[in-house]
Amino acid sequence: MAGDDILPPEEVARRASLPLTFSDLGRTVAACVGESVLQAALRHGIHIEHSCGGFCACSTCHVIVEEGMEHLTEVQDDELDRLDTAVGLTLRSRLACQAVLLGGPVTLRIGPHR
Ligand code: FES
Repeated sequence: MAGDDILPPEEVARRASLPLTFSDLGRTVAACVGESVLQAALRHGIHIEHSCGGFCACSTCHVIVEEGMEHLTEVQDDELDRLDTAVGLTLRSRLACQAVLLGGPVTLRIGPHR
């Protein structure tokens, strides 16, 4: 499964869901435990740039987590290296393709990329 592949409906039905809010869009979607923020966004038709296809090789999927950082997997060294190149980097920045949902509500906004 590629980094930007979305989960098939039968897999979505098997997993627990959680609210994922895009505050800049005023939208909350039902995301699944174990999918990345990028996968959840794409599954719901929310566009997040992802030039490398979700493989931690760019920083175009930059998001800024406003609430629920503890409900995402911990940032890894390769993600930190990529985030260094992100426009508008903050202490709450993540890459949507690397931040995997663990099971609680998360609120974020899509980061600037230019
Ligand atoms: S899509 Fe390239 S780092 Fe996330």
